[in-house]
Amino acid sequence: MSMRIGKNKEKSKHLKFFKKIMSSLLKFSLFFFLLIFNVSNSSSAEKQEKLLKQSWSFDGFFGKFDRASLQRGYQVYTEVCASCHSMNLLSYRNLSEVGGPSFSEEEVKAIASKVEVLDGPNDSGEMFKRPGKPSDKFASPFANEKAARAANGGAYPPDMSVLVKARAGGPDYIYSILMGYTDKPPKDVKLEDGVYYNKYMPGNKIKMSKPLSQDSVKYSDGTPTTEEQLSKDVVTFLTWASEPHLEARKRIGFKTVVYLLILTVLVYLVKKKIWLRVEPKV
Ligand code: HEC
Repeated sequence: MSMRIGKNKEKSKHLKFFKKIMSSLLKFSLFFFLLIFNVSNSSSAEKQEKLLKQSWSFDGFFGKFDRASLQRGYQVYTEVCASCHSMNLLSYRNLSEVGGPSFSEEEVKAIASKVEVLDGPNDSGEMFKRPGKPSDKFASPFANEKAARAANGGAYPPDMSVLVKARAGGPDYIYSILMGYTDKPPKDVKLEDGVYYNKYMPGNKIKMSKPLSQDSVKYSDGTPTTEEQLSKDVVTFLTWASEPHLEARKRIGFKTVVYLLILTVLVYLVKKKIWLRVEPKV
């Protein structure tokens, strides 16, 4: 009898301990839940306008870049953005690589030769200018960051080589910035000289005037040059620049999934065959 009571006592002790742990666990999870909820709440309060979502050709499991759009996007970049934004990580030869705009080698040579590149020093120790080669990096609009800031009211036009990857929202963010200018900013917003209102820029103020509008670039393939189309093309090009191996990555991913599926079936069949010899105990 006494043993039984002892056991019961022990049981209730265990139970109490268990209850304690459960209640502290509950408190902890409640605390974390509130913490996370609060954090996401405050960040949603800070969040501004929702980005303009586009359906991109490179989205999804089988996504690929639209070649024609990449080539047009390159044109928009060179004719408009390149006067302020550099793309230091790209060489002209990248433009003919597989998975990119796929310009021919001749076209790339022609593109590069139109650029003046500072080279040297030569035998007499002087720097000289020469026409560009496909192996040259994209020419920068400014000699250095200070010169870029001086020309842009103190703001630095960020290098665009990996800008799409560097910004939350990626392609949708860049697209939204380009489309986010309004003629009339809200009345309570004061804008200094050289500062513009943009719905999607953090803080709504940007030191870049609206770079694209209808027909700012002339396409030779007959594609309409609306603001939306120009923006879409340049963002497609910038996305490729940020992730030049996107297509190869997706292709390898697909092959891997197929390989794993076949392997799973094979392993299952082998397992069945091996266990066939074991008599079931009934
Ligand atoms: C006249 C110079 C100029 C031209 C042309 C120009 N930009 Fe800019 N851009 C700037 C400056 C300066 C900033 C920095 C603005 C700031 O920080 O307030 C900027 C910022 C940006 C940003 C915001 C980046 C961020 O920090 O989040 C994007 C996106 C952008 N530019 C895209 C473009 C695209 C695309 C083109 C071509 C269609 C273009 N810009 C053409 C000067 C220019």
